[in-house]
Amino acid sequence: MRMVDLIRKKRHGGELEEREIRFIIEGLVNGTVPDYQMAAWAMAVCFVGMSARETAALTLAMAESGDTVDLSAIAGTKVDKHSTGGVGDKTTLIVAPLVAACGVPVAKMSGRGLGHTGGTVDKLESIAGFHTELSREDFFRQVNEIGVAVIGQSGNIAPADKKLYALRDVTGTVESVPLIASSVMSKKIAAGADAILLDVKFGSGAFMKTADDARTLAEAMVAIGAQVGRRTVAVISDMDQPLGRTVGNALEVREAIEVLRGEGPDDLRELCLVLASHMLVLGGRAADATAARTQLEEAIASGAALRKFADLLAAQGGDAAVANDLSLLPQAEARVAVKAAGAGYVAGIDAEQIGLAAMILGAGRAEKDDAIDHAVGLELVAKLGDAVEAGDTLAVLHARADDDKAKQAAASVAAAYRFSPSRPDVQPLLQGIVG
Ligand code: URA
Repeated sequence: MRMVDLIRKKRHGGELEEREIRFIIEGLVNGTVPDYQMAAWAMAVCFVGMSARETAALTLAMAESGDTVDLSAIAGTKVDKHSTGGVGDKTTLIVAPLVAACGVPVAKMSGRGLGHTGGTVDKLESIAGFHTELSREDFFRQVNEIGVAVIGQSGNIAPADKKLYALRDVTGTVESVPLIASSVMSKKIAAGADAILLDVKFGSGAFMKTADDARTLAEAMVAIGAQVGRRTVAVISDMDQPLGRTVGNALEVREAIEVLRGEGPDDLRELCLVLASHMLVLGGRAADATAARTQLEEAIASGAALRKFADLLAAQGGDAAVANDLSLLPQAEARVAVKAAGAGYVAGIDAEQIGLAAMILGAGRAEKDDAIDHAVGLELVAKLGDAVEAGDTLAVLHARADDDKAKQAAASVAAAYRFSPSRPDVQPLLQGIVG
Protein backbone atom coordinates (compact mmCIF):
# COMPACT_ATOMS: atom_id res chain seq x y z
CA MET A 1 0.00 0.00 0.00
CA ARG A 2 1.28 3.49 -0.79
CA MET A 3 0.20 6.65 1.03
CA VAL A 4 0.19 8.66 -2.20
CA ASP A 5 -2.48 6.33 -3.64
CA LEU A 6 -4.64 6.75 -0.53
CA ILE A 7 -4.35 10.54 -0.75
CA ARG A 8 -5.44 10.37 -4.42
CA LYS A 9 -8.28 8.00 -3.62
CA LYS A 10 -9.63 10.37 -0.96
CA ARG A 11 -9.13 13.41 -3.18
CA HIS A 12 -11.25 11.76 -5.89
CA GLY A 13 -14.06 11.10 -3.38
CA GLY A 14 -13.34 7.42 -2.76
CA GLU A 15 -14.29 5.64 0.47
CA LEU A 16 -11.23 4.27 2.26
CA GLU A 17 -11.34 0.76 3.67
CA GLU A 18 -10.64 0.09 7.32
CA ARG A 19 -7.26 -1.52 6.54
CA GLU A 20 -6.29 1.57 4.51
CA ILE A 21 -7.18 3.88 7.40
CA ARG A 22 -5.18 1.69 9.81
CA PHE A 23 -2.21 1.89 7.41
CA ILE A 24 -2.40 5.70 7.52
CA ILE A 25 -2.67 5.96 11.30
CA GLU A 26 0.01 3.34 11.99
CA GLY A 27 2.28 5.14 9.53
CA LEU A 28 1.63 8.46 11.23
CA VAL A 29 2.56 7.04 14.65
CA ASN A 30 5.63 5.06 13.58
CA GLY A 31 6.90 7.74 11.21
CA THR A 32 6.61 5.86 7.90
CA VAL A 33 3.97 8.33 6.72
CA PRO A 34 5.68 11.74 6.66
CA ASP A 35 3.95 14.89 7.90
CA TYR A 36 3.55 16.36 4.39
CA GLN A 37 1.59 13.32 3.18
CA MET A 38 -0.51 13.27 6.33
CA ALA A 39 -1.30 16.97 5.91
CA ALA A 40 -2.21 16.44 2.23
CA TRP A 41 -4.57 13.63 3.24
CA ALA A 42 -6.15 15.80 5.98
CA MET A 43 -6.72 18.55 3.40
CA ALA A 44 -8.40 16.04 1.05
CA VAL A 45 -10.69 15.02 3.94
CA CYS A 46 -11.52 18.69 4.58
CA PHE A 47 -12.72 19.07 0.99
CA VAL A 48 -14.29 15.66 0.36
CA GLY A 49 -15.40 14.54 3.85
CA MET A 50 -15.64 10.98 5.15
CA SER A 51 -18.47 8.48 5.36
CA ALA A 52 -19.77 7.40 8.77
CA ARG A 53 -17.97 4.06 8.31
CA GLU A 54 -14.64 5.73 7.53
CA THR A 55 -15.04 8.15 10.44
CA ALA A 56 -15.66 5.28 12.87
CA ALA A 57 -12.63 3.37 11.50
CA LEU A 58 -10.43 6.47 11.88
CA THR A 59 -11.69 6.98 15.44
CA LEU A 60 -10.94 3.40 16.48
CA ALA A 61 -7.52 3.40 14.83
CA MET A 62 -6.61 6.59 16.73
CA ALA A 63 -8.14 5.32 20.01
CA GLU A 64 -6.02 2.17 19.76
CA SER A 65 -2.80 4.02 18.88
CA GLY A 66 -1.74 4.32 22.55
CA ASP A 67 -2.92 3.41 26.06
CA THR A 68 -6.51 2.25 26.41
CA VAL A 69 -8.05 2.27 29.85
CA ASP A 70 -10.00 -0.77 31.03
CA LEU A 71 -12.53 0.42 33.60
CA SER A 72 -14.04 -3.04 34.18
CA ALA A 73 -12.57 -3.09 37.72
CA ILE A 74 -15.11 -0.39 38.58
CA ALA A 75 -18.63 -1.64 39.27
CA GLY A 76 -21.60 -0.16 37.40
CA THR A 77 -22.07 1.68 34.11
CA LYS A 78 -19.34 4.28 33.76
CA VAL A 79 -20.45 7.44 31.98
CA ASP A 80 -17.89 9.96 30.74
CA LYS A 81 -18.62 13.60 29.99
CA HIS A 82 -16.89 15.83 27.48
CA SER A 83 -17.31 19.46 26.54
CA THR A 84 -16.06 20.71 23.19
CA GLY A 85 -14.61 23.65 25.10
CA GLY A 86 -15.72 27.00 26.30
CA VAL A 87 -14.97 29.97 28.49
CA GLY A 88 -16.14 29.73 32.11
CA ASP A 89 -17.10 26.08 31.58
CA LYS A 90 -16.87 24.61 35.08
CA THR A 91 -19.61 22.01 34.54
CA THR A 92 -17.40 18.98 35.32
CA LEU A 93 -16.74 20.33 38.84
CA ILE A 94 -20.49 20.26 39.46
CA VAL A 95 -21.71 17.36 37.35
CA ALA A 96 -19.11 14.79 38.51
CA PRO A 97 -20.01 14.89 42.25
CA LEU A 98 -23.68 15.47 41.46
CA VAL A 99 -24.15 12.31 39.36
CA ALA A 100 -21.88 10.34 41.72
CA ALA A 101 -24.19 11.36 44.59
CA CYS A 102 -27.02 9.76 42.58
CA GLY A 103 -25.15 6.48 42.09
CA VAL A 104 -23.44 6.80 38.68
CA PRO A 105 -19.69 6.12 39.02
CA VAL A 106 -17.51 8.85 37.52
CA ALA A 107 -13.96 7.86 36.56
CA LYS A 108 -12.89 11.08 34.91
CA MET A 109 -9.71 11.99 33.10
CA SER A 110 -9.48 15.70 32.50
CA GLY A 111 -7.06 18.03 30.81
CA ARG A 112 -5.26 21.24 31.62
CA GLY A 113 -6.19 24.47 29.90
CA LEU A 114 -4.34 25.89 26.92
CA GLY A 115 -5.12 29.24 25.30
CA HIS A 116 -8.34 31.01 26.21
CA THR A 117 -10.22 28.00 27.68
CA GLY A 118 -9.49 26.61 31.14
CA GLY A 119 -8.97 22.98 32.15
CA THR A 120 -10.73 21.10 34.95
CA VAL A 121 -7.41 19.91 36.41
CA ASP A 122 -6.16 23.50 36.77
CA LYS A 123 -9.38 24.54 38.45
CA LEU A 124 -9.25 21.70 40.98
CA GLU A 125 -5.60 22.44 41.72
CA SER A 126 -6.63 25.85 43.06
CA ILE A 127 -7.79 23.91 46.16
CA ALA A 128 -4.86 23.58 48.59
CA GLY A 129 -3.32 20.10 48.49
CA PHE A 130 -5.52 18.66 45.74
CA HIS A 131 -3.56 16.40 43.39
CA THR A 132 -4.65 14.72 40.18
CA GLU A 133 -1.94 12.10 39.80
CA LEU A 134 -3.24 8.75 41.03
CA SER A 135 -2.01 5.27 40.12
CA ARG A 136 -4.49 3.20 38.12
CA GLU A 137 -5.17 1.05 41.21
CA ASP A 138 -5.85 4.06 43.44
CA PHE A 139 -8.03 5.60 40.73
CA PHE A 140 -10.18 2.45 40.49
CA ARG A 141 -10.26 2.00 44.28
CA GLN A 142 -11.39 5.59 44.85
CA VAL A 143 -14.23 5.34 42.32
CA ASN A 144 -15.37 2.05 43.88
CA GLU A 145 -15.23 3.57 47.38
CA ILE A 146 -16.68 7.07 46.94
CA GLY A 147 -18.05 6.96 43.38
CA VAL A 148 -15.87 9.68 41.86
CA ALA A 149 -12.27 10.50 40.93
CA VAL A 150 -10.80 13.15 38.65
CA ILE A 151 -7.27 12.64 37.35
CA GLY A 152 -5.04 14.26 34.74
CA GLN A 153 -5.06 12.68 31.31
CA SER A 154 -2.27 10.15 30.71
CA GLY A 155 0.30 11.37 28.21
CA ASN A 156 -0.19 8.36 25.96
CA ILE A 157 -3.95 8.49 25.30
CA ALA A 158 -4.55 8.50 21.51
CA PRO A 159 -1.05 9.67 20.47
CA ALA A 160 -2.13 9.50 16.79
CA ASP A 161 -4.71 12.18 17.50
CA LYS A 162 -2.12 14.32 19.27
CA LYS A 163 0.15 14.15 16.22
CA LEU A 164 -2.62 14.66 13.69
CA TYR A 165 -4.11 17.56 15.67
CA ALA A 166 -0.72 19.32 15.82
CA LEU A 167 -0.45 18.99 12.01
CA ARG A 168 -4.03 20.14 11.44
CA ASP A 169 -3.41 23.17 13.62
CA VAL A 170 -0.68 24.47 11.30
CA THR A 171 -2.12 23.36 7.95
CA GLY A 172 -5.59 24.92 8.09
CA THR A 173 -7.29 21.55 8.49
CA VAL A 174 -8.89 21.80 11.93
CA GLU A 175 -12.34 22.72 10.61
CA SER A 176 -13.59 19.38 9.33
CA VAL A 177 -16.50 17.60 11.02
CA PRO A 178 -15.16 14.03 10.59
CA LEU A 179 -11.69 15.08 11.77
CA ILE A 180 -13.01 16.93 14.86
CA ALA A 181 -15.52 14.17 15.65
CA SER A 182 -12.92 11.38 15.39
CA SER A 183 -10.40 13.43 17.39
CA VAL A 184 -12.79 13.95 20.32
CA MET A 185 -14.25 10.44 20.28
CA SER A 186 -10.88 8.65 19.96
CA LYS A 187 -9.82 10.11 23.34
CA LYS A 188 -13.14 9.29 24.99
CA ILE A 189 -13.10 5.72 23.70
CA ALA A 190 -9.49 5.19 24.83
CA ALA A 191 -10.49 6.51 28.29
CA GLY A 192 -12.74 3.48 28.65
CA ALA A 193 -16.24 4.63 29.66
CA ASP A 194 -19.30 2.54 28.72
CA ALA A 195 -21.31 5.60 27.68
CA ILE A 196 -20.46 9.17 26.72
CA LEU A 197 -22.31 12.45 27.27
CA LEU A 198 -21.11 15.29 25.04
CA ASP A 199 -21.68 19.00 25.54
CA VAL A 200 -21.31 20.42 22.03
CA LYS A 201 -20.97 24.19 22.11
CA PHE A 202 -21.49 26.84 19.49
CA GLY A 203 -20.97 30.58 19.40
CA SER A 204 -18.19 33.14 19.73
CA GLY A 205 -16.22 31.06 22.25
CA ALA A 206 -16.53 27.72 20.43
CA PHE A 207 -15.17 25.87 17.38
CA MET A 208 -18.63 25.68 15.85
CA LYS A 209 -20.05 29.12 15.25
CA THR A 210 -23.72 28.19 14.65
CA ALA A 211 -26.25 25.83 16.25
CA ASP A 212 -26.63 24.03 12.89
CA ASP A 213 -22.89 23.33 12.68
CA ALA A 214 -22.88 22.13 16.29
CA ARG A 215 -25.74 19.76 15.47
CA THR A 216 -23.84 18.35 12.48
CA LEU A 217 -20.81 17.71 14.70
CA ALA A 218 -23.00 16.22 17.44
CA GLU A 219 -24.64 13.85 14.94
CA ALA A 220 -21.25 12.71 13.65
CA MET A 221 -20.04 11.94 17.18
CA VAL A 222 -23.25 10.15 18.19
CA ALA A 223 -22.95 8.06 14.99
CA ILE A 224 -19.37 7.11 15.90
CA GLY A 225 -20.53 6.05 19.37
CA ALA A 226 -23.24 3.86 17.81
CA GLN A 227 -20.77 2.26 15.36
CA VAL A 228 -18.24 1.39 18.08
CA GLY A 229 -20.75 0.26 20.72
CA ARG A 230 -20.51 3.19 23.17
CA ARG A 231 -23.89 4.77 23.75
CA THR A 232 -23.46 8.50 23.16
CA VAL A 233 -25.78 11.46 23.71
CA ALA A 234 -24.98 15.07 22.82
CA VAL A 235 -26.42 18.25 24.32
CA ILE A 236 -26.10 21.33 22.11
CA SER A 237 -25.46 24.48 24.10
CA ASP A 238 -24.79 28.13 23.43
CA MET A 239 -21.33 29.61 24.07
CA ASP A 240 -22.09 33.06 22.71
CA GLN A 241 -21.16 34.40 26.13
CA PRO A 242 -19.16 32.82 28.96
CA LEU A 243 -21.02 30.26 31.06
CA GLY A 244 -21.98 31.52 34.51
CA ARG A 245 -20.40 34.69 35.84
CA THR A 246 -16.81 33.73 36.65
CA VAL A 247 -13.72 32.97 34.57
CA GLY A 248 -10.50 31.95 36.34
CA ASN A 249 -9.61 28.89 38.35
CA ALA A 250 -10.45 29.55 42.03
CA LEU A 251 -13.32 31.84 41.01
CA GLU A 252 -14.83 29.02 38.96
CA VAL A 253 -14.44 26.57 41.86
CA ARG A 254 -16.29 29.08 44.04
CA GLU A 255 -19.15 29.30 41.54
CA ALA A 256 -19.28 25.50 41.19
CA ILE A 257 -19.61 25.13 44.97
CA GLU A 258 -22.38 27.73 44.94
CA VAL A 259 -24.32 25.63 42.40
CA LEU A 260 -23.75 22.48 44.48
CA ARG A 261 -25.25 24.43 47.42
CA GLY A 262 -28.36 25.22 45.37
CA GLU A 263 -27.23 28.77 44.57
CA GLY A 264 -25.19 30.15 41.67
CA PRO A 265 -26.22 31.52 38.26
CA ASP A 266 -29.26 30.10 36.46
CA ASP A 267 -27.53 29.32 33.13
CA LEU A 268 -24.79 27.27 34.76
CA ARG A 269 -27.19 25.46 37.08
CA GLU A 270 -29.58 24.64 34.22
CA LEU A 271 -26.88 23.30 31.89
CA CYS A 272 -25.46 21.15 34.69
CA LEU A 273 -28.87 19.70 35.52
CA VAL A 274 -29.47 18.85 31.85
CA LEU A 275 -26.03 17.26 31.40
CA ALA A 276 -26.31 15.34 34.66
CA SER A 277 -29.83 14.11 33.91
CA HIS A 278 -28.69 12.53 30.65
CA MET A 279 -25.75 10.96 32.49
CA LEU A 280 -28.15 9.39 35.00
CA VAL A 281 -30.23 7.95 32.17
CA LEU A 282 -27.12 6.66 30.35
CA GLY A 283 -25.90 5.15 33.64
CA GLY A 284 -29.20 3.30 34.11
CA ARG A 285 -30.13 5.23 37.28
CA ALA A 286 -33.23 6.94 35.88
CA ALA A 287 -35.86 5.95 33.32
CA ASP A 288 -35.89 9.36 31.65
CA ALA A 289 -34.49 12.86 31.95
CA THR A 290 -37.48 14.11 33.97
CA ALA A 291 -37.11 11.39 36.62
CA ALA A 292 -33.36 12.02 36.67
CA ARG A 293 -33.86 15.72 37.30
CA THR A 294 -35.96 15.03 40.40
CA GLN A 295 -33.15 12.87 41.83
CA LEU A 296 -30.54 15.51 41.02
CA GLU A 297 -32.51 18.34 42.57
CA GLU A 298 -32.94 16.24 45.71
CA ALA A 299 -29.19 15.54 45.83
CA ILE A 300 -28.55 19.28 45.76
CA ALA A 301 -31.30 20.17 48.26
CA SER A 302 -30.22 17.48 50.75
CA GLY A 303 -26.57 18.50 50.62
CA ALA A 304 -25.55 15.07 49.24
CA ALA A 305 -23.96 16.58 46.11
CA LEU A 306 -21.88 19.06 48.12
CA ARG A 307 -20.82 16.29 50.54
CA LYS A 308 -19.72 14.19 47.54
CA PHE A 309 -17.62 17.11 46.32
CA ALA A 310 -16.00 17.36 49.79
CA ASP A 311 -15.35 13.58 49.71
CA LEU A 312 -13.65 13.99 46.31
CA LEU A 313 -11.43 16.76 47.69
CA ALA A 314 -10.50 14.78 50.79
CA ALA A 315 -9.76 11.60 48.81
CA GLN A 316 -7.31 13.44 46.57
CA GLY A 317 -5.47 15.34 49.31
CA GLY A 318 -7.43 18.58 49.01
CA ASP A 319 -8.76 20.81 51.79
CA ALA A 320 -12.36 19.56 52.06
CA ALA A 321 -13.28 22.50 54.33
CA VAL A 322 -13.37 24.63 51.15
CA ALA A 323 -16.79 23.11 50.36
CA ASN A 324 -18.21 24.96 53.38
CA ASP A 325 -15.86 27.93 53.57
CA LEU A 326 -15.20 29.73 50.29
CA SER A 327 -12.76 32.14 51.98
CA LEU A 328 -10.22 29.26 52.01
CA LEU A 329 -9.83 29.57 48.23
CA PRO A 330 -6.91 31.62 46.92
CA GLN A 331 -7.81 35.30 46.46
CA ALA A 332 -6.13 38.06 44.46
CA GLU A 333 -5.60 41.40 46.25
CA ALA A 334 -6.80 43.91 43.64
CA ARG A 335 -10.30 44.48 42.25
CA VAL A 336 -10.61 46.49 39.05
CA ALA A 337 -14.06 47.44 37.77
CA VAL A 338 -14.65 47.64 34.02
CA LYS A 339 -17.36 50.27 33.43
CA ALA A 340 -19.82 50.88 30.61
CA ALA A 341 -18.96 53.90 28.46
CA GLY A 342 -22.61 54.50 27.50
CA ALA A 343 -26.15 53.28 28.08
CA GLY A 344 -27.72 50.32 26.24
CA TYR A 345 -28.50 46.62 26.35
CA VAL A 346 -25.75 44.03 26.34
CA ALA A 347 -26.13 42.42 22.89
CA GLY A 348 -22.98 40.31 22.83
CA ILE A 349 -20.06 39.21 25.04
CA ASP A 350 -17.27 37.71 22.97
CA ALA A 351 -16.28 34.68 25.03
CA GLU A 352 -12.87 34.42 23.36
CA GLN A 353 -11.98 38.02 24.34
CA ILE A 354 -13.06 37.34 27.91
CA GLY A 355 -10.94 34.19 27.98
CA LEU A 356 -8.03 36.24 26.66
CA ALA A 357 -8.48 38.80 29.44
CA ALA A 358 -8.33 36.02 32.06
CA MET A 359 -5.18 34.73 30.38
CA ILE A 360 -3.54 38.19 30.48
CA LEU A 361 -4.22 38.30 34.23
CA GLY A 362 -2.41 34.95 34.57
CA ALA A 363 -5.35 32.50 34.81
CA GLY A 364 -4.42 30.60 31.64
CA ARG A 365 -1.32 29.60 29.75
CA ALA A 366 -0.07 30.61 26.32
CA GLU A 367 2.46 27.74 26.24
CA LYS A 368 1.92 24.25 27.59
CA ASP A 369 4.48 24.59 30.42
CA ASP A 370 3.54 28.12 31.61
CA ALA A 371 2.71 28.48 35.31
CA ILE A 372 -0.75 29.76 36.14
CA ASP A 373 -2.10 31.92 38.95
CA HIS A 374 -5.13 30.23 40.50
CA ALA A 375 -6.42 33.35 42.26
CA VAL A 376 -6.86 35.73 39.31
CA GLY A 377 -9.73 36.02 36.84
CA LEU A 378 -12.89 38.00 36.41
CA GLU A 379 -16.56 38.17 37.31
CA LEU A 380 -19.12 39.26 34.77
CA VAL A 381 -21.68 41.55 36.35
CA ALA A 382 -23.60 42.34 33.13
CA LYS A 383 -24.70 39.49 30.87
CA LEU A 384 -26.58 39.23 27.56
CA GLY A 385 -29.84 41.16 27.56
CA ASP A 386 -29.04 43.25 30.68
CA ALA A 387 -29.69 47.01 30.53
CA VAL A 388 -26.77 49.20 31.62
CA GLU A 389 -26.27 52.93 32.16
CA ALA A 390 -23.03 54.81 31.50
CA GLY A 391 -20.65 54.17 34.39
CA ASP A 392 -22.29 50.89 35.47
CA THR A 393 -19.89 48.04 36.23
CA LEU A 394 -19.77 45.44 33.45
CA ALA A 395 -17.19 43.18 35.06
CA VAL A 396 -14.78 43.03 37.98
CA LEU A 397 -11.22 41.85 37.50
CA HIS A 398 -9.50 39.92 40.28
CA ALA A 399 -5.87 40.85 39.73
CA ARG A 400 -2.57 40.81 41.59
CA ALA A 401 -2.20 44.55 41.26
CA ASP A 402 -3.90 47.41 39.46
CA ASP A 403 -1.05 47.50 36.92
CA ASP A 404 -0.40 47.26 33.17
CA LYS A 405 -1.63 43.67 33.00
CA ALA A 406 -4.92 44.66 34.64
CA LYS A 407 -5.26 47.62 32.24
CA GLN A 408 -4.68 45.35 29.24
CA ALA A 409 -7.18 42.80 30.59
CA ALA A 410 -9.72 45.56 31.27
CA ALA A 411 -9.38 46.74 27.66
CA SER A 412 -9.97 43.17 26.43
CA VAL A 413 -13.11 42.87 28.59
CA ALA A 414 -14.42 46.24 27.43
CA ALA A 415 -13.83 45.20 23.79
CA ALA A 416 -15.73 41.95 24.38
CA TYR A 417 -19.00 43.76 25.17
CA ARG A 418 -21.33 44.82 22.35
CA PHE A 419 -24.39 47.00 23.01
CA SER A 420 -27.65 47.75 21.25
CA PRO A 421 -30.19 50.51 21.90
CA SER A 422 -33.08 48.02 22.16
CA ARG A 423 -33.40 44.78 24.12
CA PRO A 424 -31.84 41.99 21.99
CA ASP A 425 -33.33 38.53 21.53
CA VAL A 426 -31.33 36.22 23.75
CA GLN A 427 -31.38 32.71 22.34
CA PRO A 428 -31.94 29.80 24.73
CA LEU A 429 -28.82 28.25 26.25
CA LEU A 430 -29.96 24.76 25.23
CA GLN A 431 -30.56 24.09 21.57
CA GLY A 432 -31.38 20.42 21.51
CA ILE A 433 -30.31 16.89 22.28
CA VAL A 434 -28.92 14.37 19.78
CA GLY A 435 -28.91 10.65 20.46
N1 URA B 1 -11.08 19.25 20.16
C1 URA B 1 -10.44 18.10 19.90
O1 URA B 1 -10.13 17.32 20.80
N2 URA B 1 -10.14 17.83 18.61
C2 URA B 1 -10.45 18.64 17.58
O2 URA B 1 -10.16 18.33 16.45
C3 URA B 1 -11.10 19.85 17.88
C4 URA B 1 -11.41 20.12 19.18
